[in-house]
Amino acid sequence: MDDFHYEGGDLYCEDVPLAEIAQGAGTPTYVYSHAALERAYRDLDDAFGDLDHLVCYAVKANGNLAILRALASFGAGADIVSGGELYRVMRAGFDPKKVVFAGVGKTEQELMAGLGERILLFNVESASELDHLERYAFRHGKKARVSLRVNPNVDAETHEHITTGRERDKFGIPVDEALTLADRIKEFKCVDLIGVHQHIGSQITKIGPHAEAIEKSAGLVDELKRRGFDIKYFNIGGGLGIRYKDEDVPTAKDLVDAVRPTLEPLAAGGTKILCEMGRYIAGNAGALLTSVIYRKKSGEKSFIVADAGMNDLLRPSLYDAHHEVRAACEDGALANADLVGPVCESGDYLARDRDLPDAAEGDLLAVMSAGAYGFSMASNYNSRPRPAEVMVRGDSWAVVREREHNADLIKGELVPAFL
Ligand code: LLP
Repeated sequence: MDDFHYEGGDLYCEDVPLAEIAQGAGTPTYVYSHAALERAYRDLDDAFGDLDHLVCYAVKANGNLAILRALASFGAGADIVSGGELYRVMRAGFDPKKVVFAGVGKTEQELMAGLGERILLFNVESASELDHLERYAFRHGKKARVSLRVNPNVDAETHEHITTGRERDKFGIPVDEALTLADRIKEFKCVDLIGVHQHIGSQITKIGPHAEAIEKSAGLVDELKRRGFDIKYFNIGGGLGIRYKDEDVPTAKDLVDAVRPTLEPLAAGGTKILCEMGRYIAGNAGALLTSVIYRKKSGEKSFIVADAGMNDLLRPSLYDAHHEVRAACEDGALANADLVGPVCESGDYLARDRDLPDAAEGDLLAVMSAGAYGFSMASNYNSRPRPAEVMVRGDSWAVVREREHNADLIKGELVPAFL
């Protein structure tokens, strides 16, 4: 059963009507389904079958502590990209031995924090980062376990902003340079090269680019092993796309089955397979609840003005991304309209030129598939407090992040004495 579904015309998350949540927590509010999270995680985990593997969750998709706690309890690892995400995953109870740290610009403080927690792997993206890591580890008497993030030069065929595996993208190290770097690591005292990592982009809806990139990167694993490195981990990255509208999307099993012939010999040789999916796990587990403030017409155009805007859910404005819009109380009536927010930009919309529920003022709408890169990309633009977040499990629900208040908007701001 779909974890967001209609019962007698009312939209439910699991066993809770969304109208009940809106009444209790107000709007705008993100609502997450525990069952949907668990299903997506298990789907992914099961897809690997008996291959030795660990599914890491890409925290950037949604770092709410309750989401993280749930994933840690399923047995997931975590893929982090900042000291802030490291702080979150430690607070949520992740085993640091299941944490991998990626990112092109890790600062000294962040590298030190990772070393301090003895995380599983640093996904290193440049020669300079490696030098720094060796220096800090040496200075503090630590060992750094390292994966080289290889750039396989494969186009993920997704949105330009979220394509990361081509030569011209800032991410990773070309294969030949990775080999040169590996030779240098042999001279390092405090860095152990035990992994290869790759990630070519996000919302990838074709198997082809994944398979091509994974095969190329697996070649590097083989070559490093031939050169005497004990490559214990091969991280195939994240990026598996989800259905937002009516896209034909591969399942986790489709992906793993397609690359199984490449992964099996590696796993048989003692290399554990890691992946780091964010959207696949959290994307369809969340919806953004919003109330209609006004209806308005401008010439032929019809607008539904809601209390959620681009600061709450940026994806439509930034990527022209499509999110389904459902009425919390369905009567089937549709109107061709734009669903817009209160933010002072024409680019502030959640849906544009679409047949949307013909919602009246005060009606409640749900913007679907908003569990990943929804709240995590929310901002205070226009001095709008960020929305509340709620998790549903069966017939229970709880606020897992309070709605911000005006006082939160000026937290840390100071008026200097010279004014
Ligand atoms: N690993 C690395 C190194 C990444 O850069 C990312 C995402 C992931 C894993 C997780 O990718 P996923 O499985 O979630 O596709 N804000 C954009 C998405 C940005 C993705 C950035 N990196 C959006 O809203 O579509």
